[in-house]
Amino acid sequence: MTRVAIITGISSGMGRAAALYFKQQGFEVYGGARRVERLTDLREKGIHTQKLDVTDKFSVRQLVDRTVSEQGRIDVLINNAGYGEYGPLEEVPIENAKKQFDVNLFAVGQLTQLVLPVMRRQNSGRIINVSSIGANVYSPLGGWYHATKASLNMWSDVLDSEVKRFGIRSIIIQPGLTKSEWSKIAFENARKNLLDNSPYDELVDKVEKLFSKLGTGATSEDLAQVFYHAATDAHPKRRYYNSVVDHSMVMIARTMPNTYRVVLNKLMK
Ligand SMILES: NC(=O)c1ccc[n+]([C@@H]2O[C@H](COP(=O)([O-])OP(=O)(O)OC[C@H]3O[C@@H](n4cnc5c(N)ncnc54)[C@H](OP(=O)(O)O)[C@@H]3O)[C@@H](O)[C@H]2O)c1
Repeated sequence: MTRVAIITGISSGMGRAAALYFKQQGFEVYGGARRVERLTDLREKGIHTQKLDVTDKFSVRQLVDRTVSEQGRIDVLINNAGYGEYGPLEEVPIENAKKQFDVNLFAVGQLTQLVLPVMRRQNSGRIINVSSIGANVYSPLGGWYHATKASLNMWSDVLDSEVKRFGIRSIIIQPGLTKSEWSKIAFENARKNLLDNSPYDELVDKVEKLFSKLGTGATSEDLAQVFYHAATDAHPKRRYYNSVVDHSMVMIARTMPNTYRVVLNKLMK
């Protein structure tokens, strides 16, 4: 039987790499993004693409309806689309903070609600939610972003406790810094969200420097393989990490918040 996956945000980064990897592994892959011009080569490789804005309920319904009418089932949903609405909490307009929650959390809920009845009928399915080590680890300017990812972790755990009885699992992936367009977009937003003569101007340069100092050891292709494990492991874990370092950072931030803060302060110097 052909396995079927829906992946959001496949025009770039991890979503794109995952679409290609899952297709290579024999999945029928359905997905989309807003920048459709970036999807042509994926379509040529047999991936079913469409224009998708995850915050538009008609757009997500169209994706689910098309998948079900063409394949009759959905084995895996990867809620990957996301971005960082960076900026100082004093200055980020609340409309932008709401947009951040719309994309990174509420859109995940909307799409999942459409997919769950299909998975329940099958008595099987995986919902893979792409969170971040930033659900636990933080730095200045990421306030709203971290809040969405922390919320996503909790949301995913509650969902898992509700749907496991139907053979469905809800799983969190927590990537660390990874090569993609994510950082560029986050810091463009940080600058866009600054008021004129902002006292936080220097902080943006400092945090951007910190990110480039920390570097991006992982590639989007590495993360695509982690997504695949989460989607296909016989006994999936509730959390997946790409590296021991990512896992350790989460453990330190969760269990030793003061130590984490000392390390952050040192890194920011
Ligand atoms: N890269 C990192 O360091 C890192 C670390 C931890 C977690 N993450 C998370 O990993 C996920 C993937 O990010 P990435 O690193 O691959 O970043 P990316 O290269 O910027 O890709 C993000 C993808 O999300 C899509 N997207 C954004 N808003 C959308 C919307 N409203 N509707 C549909 N698609 C939308 C983008 O497509 P369009 O713009 O074309 O719509 C793009 O395909 C995100 O959830 C991110 O928060 C990233």
